[in-house]
Amino acid sequence: MIKTIKGEREKVMTIAELQKQILRLKAEKDFYILAHSYVAREICEIADSVGDSYKLSCDAQKAKNANILLCGVRFMAETAKILSPEKHVYLSCAEAGCPMAEQMDKDMIEAIKETDPTLAVVAYVNTTAELKTVADVCVTSSSAVQIVRNMEEDNILFIPDCNLGAYVKEQVPEKKIELLQGGCPVHAAISKKDVLAVKAKHPSALFAVHPECRAEVVALADYVGSTSGIMQFAKKSDAKEFIIGTEISIAETLQYECPDKKFYPLSKRLICPNMKATTLADVYHVLNGEGGEEILLDDETIAKAKRCLDRMIALGG
Ligand code: 13P
Ligand code: SF4
Repeated sequence: MIKTIKGEREKVMTIAELQKQILRLKAEKDFYILAHSYVAREICEIADSVGDSYKLSCDAQKAKNANILLCGVRFMAETAKILSPEKHVYLSCAEAGCPMAEQMDKDMIEAIKETDPTLAVVAYVNTTAELKTVADVCVTSSSAVQIVRNMEEDNILFIPDCNLGAYVKEQVPEKKIELLQGGCPVHAAISKKDVLAVKAKHPSALFAVHPECRAEVVALADYVGSTSGIMQFAKKSDAKEFIIGTEISIAETLQYECPDKKFYPLSKRLICPNMKATTLADVYHVLNGEGGEEILLDDETIAKAKRCLDRMIALGG
């Protein structure tokens, strides 16, 4: 109950009530809800699938429902649409985009490809649908090393994240991998100095990091992996303390799920404003037919972009 301006008392919905309404509407309107692990906990609680980019891509394709609602950022919803063109795919917050996905455009990559026909373009899934049309294969942070190792081409241009690309290059030294300057502004902002400061405070803690961080940060880690990889590592480990080098919500979720262990975020600056843009109310409004955005892509873009995603699933599964 809250006080209105006129001083009357008015009923408001609690988070639990709003979640109940969302679950009712989800079933009534045949929606499958996908949430990236970086979005707010109350959204993860009502989602059918929660995970990293790779899990969301696979689960979007497997879902039997007529409608998919993506709680995360635009490239994830576009990926779901490309993999399931027959479904209606909605992004719960139209403004939520990944800045990295917009850093390179199709013409620029096509021009580079023309200079060397043997070059295979490996695109991180954090790219626009348009850019995926000129990629030879797509990767996620959990599958990048395995896919680059398994693909037959040896001459590779890795876009757009030069930090993830540098990590793959180190893990797969037998291939020639070229990088371009691009990356995640949230993860790339963390320095070696930040890591040393947290390690000094928590000397017994193991350090798990996302490969979108700089090489100087990754070099200090006990484990390097995707969002889901970091969570699995921390859960399975016998260690009791962990420094979590990715978006701050992962340290928080791990702390809820493993109360006998201690989790410290690598930095309070590791907050992705785009992943935090979606609210539970946004989800409710989309299910009510108001707000959000239906992802619409033309048939040619879908057909061309699907090739690199299909190859990703075939090589990385
Ligand atoms: P994951 O592949 O770990 O889900 O990463 C996606 C992302 O945007 C990380 O910043
Ligand atoms: Fe993009 Fe970085 Fe946010 Fe992930 S954390 S969505 S890569 S800006």
